Amino acid sequence: MIDLYKLAKPLVFKMDPETAHGVTIKALKSGAIKSCKTVKDSSLNQSLFGIQFSNPVGLSAGFDKNAEVISPIINLGFGFTEVGTVTPKPQIGNPRPRIFRDPDSASVINAMGFPNGGLDMFKKNIKTSRRPSDIVGINIGMNKEQTNPAEDYCALIRALAPMASYLTVNISSPNTPGLRNLQQKDVLSELLGELMAARKEISGGNSPALLVKLAPDLNEKQQEEIAETLMESKVDGVILSNTTLDRPQSLPETFRARKGGLSGAPVRGKSTDIIRNFYKITGGKLPIIGVGGIQTAEHAYEKIKAGASLVQLYTGMIYEGPNIANNINAGLIDLLKQDGCMNISEAVGQETA
Ligand code: FNR
Repeated sequence: MIDLYKLAKPLVFKMDPETAHGVTIKALKSGAIKSCKTVKDSSLNQSLFGIQFSNPVGLSAGFDKNAEVISPIINLGFGFTEVGTVTPKPQIGNPRPRIFRDPDSASVINAMGFPNGGLDMFKKNIKTSRRPSDIVGINIGMNKEQTNPAEDYCALIRALAPMASYLTVNISSPNTPGLRNLQQKDVLSELLGELMAARKEISGGNSPALLVKLAPDLNEKQQEEIAETLMESKVDGVILSNTTLDRPQSLPETFRARKGGLSGAPVRGKSTDIIRNFYKITGGKLPIIGVGGIQTAEHAYEKIKAGASLVQLYTGMIYEGPNIANNINAGLIDLLKQDGCMNISEAVGQETA
């Protein structure tokens, strides 16, 4: 099959990254970007958080900030998509330009600062862009000027829980001042207490799973403390990880000097290491969604064997194009066979067994 993205990519990369993103969203909405065939196999099926996933590859938060293209993304072969980060009030985010690519290292630096249309627009969009069968995580954050984070997170949980397959509490974007401080043990414990209570209020006991998304920039002591807090708070899972503040020396100087979070290939090892560590600390009892630098089936499998039950990607799609989920899933089927696994769940954390 001809890879149309190989033809389109030089044009896409001539555009400013945020303009290219806008064009991509429009093309997905109009049906101009679609996949001919979705890779399916029972070895990729998995049940987690009470949800039946047809495959473990998801699109991570930040791509579909306003929940505009849920079903077009699922149609590209993704097992699930995570929309947002959404904040209660609309906000414009940081001044542009705020996304920078470095194709040689297959990486991106972004300093978006949660630009989004706010809760009301988000709810309308979800209703039109999602089919009931689409698995959709909703990633929630606080407005920049909010001084009481729990207020924003609780409001979003109450408003969005009925529409979410799972909710992700984002406390790890480097582009909202003070947000990462919520990862401190005592602060986190208090915040999660309030959020879990807000979720409990949701009627019918049908409340969606609540996950927490963390930064990769945490030392071992912080990782241990946070893992303990997550277990004590009884959250349902953890997403590892968001972008990094690291700037490896190997990156070009002008790119390295950009403010924001680095994603793509350079964050891959760091995010896999934190997945492995969390899996060990929690004895595999806290489900992990692994994200950071995934471009191939081998990269996804590495994170699964380190302890991730599901994986996500964003930057990989910028460099590899819209068929990335199908390519990864096709590769995972082969890798599982090679390892004698009948199902993906047998491979989770295998490396640490
Ligand atoms: C992101 N990411 C992100 N994460 C999040 O929780 N909320 C967000 O709004 C965003 N926004 C965002 C914008 C852009 C342009 C990028 C590149 C990334 C982080 C993303 O979901 C993921 O955790 C990291 O990028 C690491 O994965 P990849 O991109 O290396 O596959």
